[in-house]
Amino acid sequence: MKKYHIITYGCQMNEHDSENIAGLLEAMDYEYEDDPYKSDVVVINTCSVRENADKRFFGVLGQFKRIRKTNPDFVLCVCGCMPQQPRIVEKINRQFSWVDIVFGTQNIAKFPELLEKRLRTGQKQRQIIDSNPVIDEDEMKPKRMYRHKALVNITYGCNNFCTYCIVPYTRGREKSRMLCDVVREIEGLAADGVKEVMLLGQNVDSYRDAAGSDFADLLHAVNDIEGIERIRFMTSHPKDISDRMIACFTDCGKLCRNIHLPLQSGSDRVLKRMNRHYDMQRYLEIVDKLRATAPDITISTDIIVGFPGETEEDFEQTLDAARRVRYDSAFTFIYSPREGTPAAKLFDDMIPDDVCHERFDRLVDVMNSISLEKNLEYKGRVCEVMVEGRSKNEPDAYSGRTDGFKLVNFTSDRPEEDMIGKTVKVLITESKTFSLEGREVAE
Ligand code: 5AD
Ligand code: SF4
Repeated sequence: MKKYHIITYGCQMNEHDSENIAGLLEAMDYEYEDDPYKSDVVVINTCSVRENADKRFFGVLGQFKRIRKTNPDFVLCVCGCMPQQPRIVEKINRQFSWVDIVFGTQNIAKFPELLEKRLRTGQKQRQIIDSNPVIDEDEMKPKRMYRHKALVNITYGCNNFCTYCIVPYTRGREKSRMLCDVVREIEGLAADGVKEVMLLGQNVDSYRDAAGSDFADLLHAVNDIEGIERIRFMTSHPKDISDRMIACFTDCGKLCRNIHLPLQSGSDRVLKRMNRHYDMQRYLEIVDKLRATAPDITISTDIIVGFPGETEEDFEQTLDAARRVRYDSAFTFIYSPREGTPAAKLFDDMIPDDVCHERFDRLVDVMNSISLEKNLEYKGRVCEVMVEGRSKNEPDAYSGRTDGFKLVNFTSDRPEEDMIGKTVKVLITESKTFSLEGREVAE
């Protein structure tokens, strides 16, 4: 049997695209291989959100040159967000001639045809179209990374044009799948033993299908699907979040009490330059509503430091916001100019690297100390944990997630086949910055 390997960078959309690509390859009788250098086909699914992703990618491409020499039948494919930018495809064609197939985020269904053509003719294949066709999920049979949980697209693309962000250019205009199609897919997943679904969209709150259903309608419909125990979603946008959606945290029993609510900056002036369409007053109002509806809700966020023109005062407002919201966890980024985005064109008041790094370190310190304080509140409590598998660091222990998405490593006497996908009760005995520890207790 021929073998394939997929290298995935970036967000959960990319992860799910890779699951679809793996499904397509297995339908062509390819078998997964852990070692890319022993594979017949390698697919690199790329990300362009920040510059270091670019650099890493070209480094990895370079490493595949020598396999090409030893195995003439080897096929190297590049897909994802990077090839959606013409300058990247030009660079691949110019400097990385050993890349066989290049396709964009909207051409995944075309991949088997491109591979077959490449194998038959020996010719390089390039397929980048930006006419924005909707990806037909019904034609895809993803090979899921987990048996008990699944990623489900609800929207594609993004219309928000935050000035720093490349995604609207690489993933195209926003499109919502029909509610009935999403429900049908999840019913199929539930029949297949899936217990938890993660609904994916760049901005789930702007979901609206052609029949007029909105995100709250979708959550209600998914909540009614038998067999599904937990519903998660990402990402929310503060500008579009509705009261009806917030009410779902009490109305929909399966909706996990956890939200990823990107803040990006705590300064109204910077938020405006980022084109985020909310101010701190509105953001904090949402947080208050969420906590009034679901007092135990956990909140995570994304923050960018060093956006062009960010003053020390702006940055201190971000620190204040972090202390005011008290996030459970945060992803913090240093601003990285992306060619083709408005921020890279319009703003030349770049913040020096040393200032960015100093701010980044201060922010991470504040975030981490809040995360630890929040995690300490769990010590001595019993939490319901959905088991994901063996713990990465301690093979004798299991790991899983609470409803609020806290990572829990815990001990149990039960065998593994009894555990994955089950929800068990765990007494929390130790709290760390990024995880909790405990032991299973009787039902
Ligand atoms: N520079 C730094 N961070 C960025 N993000 C998106 N674009 C950039 C950029 N150009 C961050 C945002 C977003 C997360 C996925 O990545 O915080 O929410
Ligand atoms: Fe990028 Fe903003 Fe769209 Fe998120 S909402 S993908 S940050 S443009």
